[in-house]
Amino acid sequence: MSKITAAITGVSGYVPDYILSNKELETMVDTNEDWIISRTGIKERRILKGEGLGTSDLGVEAVKELFKKTGAQAQEIDLIICATATPDRIFPSTACIIADKIGAKNAFCFDIMAACSGFLYSVYTASKFIESGSHKKILVIGADKMSSIVDYKDRSTCIIFGDGAGAILLEPTTDGMGIQDGILGSDGAGREFLNIKSGGSVSPSNKETVANREHFVFQDGQPVFKAAVKNMADVSAKIMKKNNLTADDVAWLVPHQANKRIIDATARRMGVGNEKVMLNIQKYGNTTNGTIPLCLWEWENQLNKGDNIILAAFGGGFTWGSIYLKWAY
Ligand SMILES: CC(C)(COP(=O)(O)OP(=O)(O)OC[C@H]1O[C@@H](n2cnc3c(N)ncnc32)[C@H](O)[C@@H]1OP(=O)(O)O)[C@@H](O)C(=O)NCCC(=O)NCCS
Repeated sequence: MSKITAAITGVSGYVPDYILSNKELETMVDTNEDWIISRTGIKERRILKGEGLGTSDLGVEAVKELFKKTGAQAQEIDLIICATATPDRIFPSTACIIADKIGAKNAFCFDIMAACSGFLYSVYTASKFIESGSHKKILVIGADKMSSIVDYKDRSTCIIFGDGAGAILLEPTTDGMGIQDGILGSDGAGREFLNIKSGGSVSPSNKETVANREHFVFQDGQPVFKAAVKNMADVSAKIMKKNNLTADDVAWLVPHQANKRIIDATARRMGVGNEKVMLNIQKYGNTTNGTIPLCLWEWENQLNKGDNIILAAFGGGFTWGSIYLKWAY
């Protein structure tokens, strides 16, 4: 019997309508458009406005479009993994909430928290359920309402993040397409440089932690930047070597998008030209777990069956990783 691999059989995305431009940020913090563009490559990002709306609502919109495109039905889904750093609540999982909202009664559901690498961790995890033969239709959703944890008084972080979601359907195939390999890594020593200080079990939120703005993202940019360049570039080069891929063999690089300079360094290290790099940072900023599926969604029409695609990510933890897949349709 031929080997079962996990193929992406559909992709969709959703970004909210509201555009937060660099010009508007200039009115909120001491920054300027030139600095933001030259240091990060970001021109604008989307923000989910509206009372009572959270990450699950972004994910639901992406899944609705995915069902429409693929014809998949909610009841057929047997597993839902939601990658998010901004769950609706600490518990229950956002995957459970999405399942309820879309009527996926036959799925078991859980979230994966690996900050900006979460979507990649989730795809790799899901691929193992497919390869084992235990599950046949898996939804992997990457969704984040980053505006809910960003301090709009901190100019070093508020310029970076935006809200968005993407979703993919993973199904078994025996034609050799789909997920070929993955390399994932973590280093918890990085927690010092990128974290949310309070609101967890070590420091539950109280008046003082809120007054100190400890419920927002804290980032020490430079060490994170250096670790991101090193790990995302290393792991991408490593997966190419391990699978005997040259830069010519790679059709597309789909990098996590936190800073255009980190993406450029990764592409350079792989020897892959800019024309092969999917880039949405300029219009969405860093959408954390939404970034990679949003790229695949936007480029879907340019992809061909058999294209060698490298996904790469780096995020808080630290976490990082790379997946090599062959596009399946
Ligand atoms: C955050 C980041 C864009 C900052 O860029 P940087 O080039 O490292 O900038 P620095 O932090 O060294 O700051 C340089 C100067 O710009 C200032 N600055 C910071 N943010 C600014 C802003 N929005 N507008 C204007 N000036 C700003 C700093 O205060 C500093 O000023 P000083 O030299 O007078 O102290 C960059 O470090 C980064 O992208 N880090 C990694 C992000 C990432 O990968 N995250 C992981 C996944 S989420």
